[in-house]
Amino acid sequence: MSHSNDITVHPREVIERILSMELVRVTERAAVSAARLRGHGDEKAADQAAVDAMRRELNRLQIDGRIVIGEGERDEAPMLFIGEKVGNGQGPKVDIAVDPLEGTTLCAKDMPGAIAVMAMAQAGSLLYAPDVYMDKIAIGPGYPEGIVDLDASPADNINALAKAKGVKPNEIAALIMDRPRHADLIEAVRKTGASIRLITDGDVAGVIFTAMQHETGIDIYLGIGGAPEGVLAAAALRCVGGQMQGRLILDTPEKVERARTMGITDPHKKYQMNELASGDVIVSATGVTDGALLNGVRFNKGMIETETLVYRSITGTVRKIKGEHRQFEKFKLD
Ligand code: FBP
Repeated sequence: MSHSNDITVHPREVIERILSMELVRVTERAAVSAARLRGHGDEKAADQAAVDAMRRELNRLQIDGRIVIGEGERDEAPMLFIGEKVGNGQGPKVDIAVDPLEGTTLCAKDMPGAIAVMAMAQAGSLLYAPDVYMDKIAIGPGYPEGIVDLDASPADNINALAKAKGVKPNEIAALIMDRPRHADLIEAVRKTGASIRLITDGDVAGVIFTAMQHETGIDIYLGIGGAPEGVLAAAALRCVGGQMQGRLILDTPEKVERARTMGITDPHKKYQMNELASGDVIVSATGVTDGALLNGVRFNKGMIETETLVYRSITGTVRKIKGEHRQFEKFKLD
């Protein structure tokens, strides 16, 4: 697998690999808690359940962690807010990006694609991004570096991708969020002949779909979604060698100022994947509802089943872990 766009990772940037398994536990717990409220029509309750479980598990880890992508700013999010310290404070200094329930509406309506997801990286490695929108473009691994670009027209990107793949533009499939803001983008992509899969929510998975083209049929992700989701998706995509670029949408003086206080001095900066998530990154995602990436949580008599993907950038390893949890409640240590 190509890792040509990886920056050099120094030994001191390597996170203990045992933490991969710890991350799996964290997203499993969040997913199960959210899944108990799956299909109940209450986004907030499902999200809160996932947040509570994720926070409880994170605070059991031997890490000195700081949330850089979280539930929002401190005043609007009582837990897992940006800047919150997590872990028992005794291990390595790490940055943590969380989306305890990515696709709250998908979970509330039991629609495909809700996941519990988080990333961990050496301190300073994940973009400390405000909760704004991000314009994104992503493709999977195996293509020459730079064949698509956020600043190129949709037609140029689709045509370049088709050429590199050795297919016609009308054999390319794009994934775009179904939003009025994408009307022009959708029209421009359709003009090339490419097909578009529209999703209602869940663009962390949407970006990751490009890296699993054989399973998902998606070649390219285009459009505007959340910036936090962009950082999480970049972290996962880096592990499998895809390409991604993102630009924060800082369209009011307040947003520009908020970004500035978080260290972002150029409001128009086009971030490369390695700038969104650098160094050694571990990403874990557990299915809440069934989806193309992962099955959702299954509740059986005396046993709960989960499915998790865990990615690690330094080795490019992707593991799909099927969990069978017996005595799940007994080991819920508050
Ligand atoms: P939530 O889980 O917070 O509901 O976010 C879901 C999501 O669809 C993300 O995947 C996506 O990045 C973002 O919302 C898009 O925002 P908007 O719904 O405002 O277009």
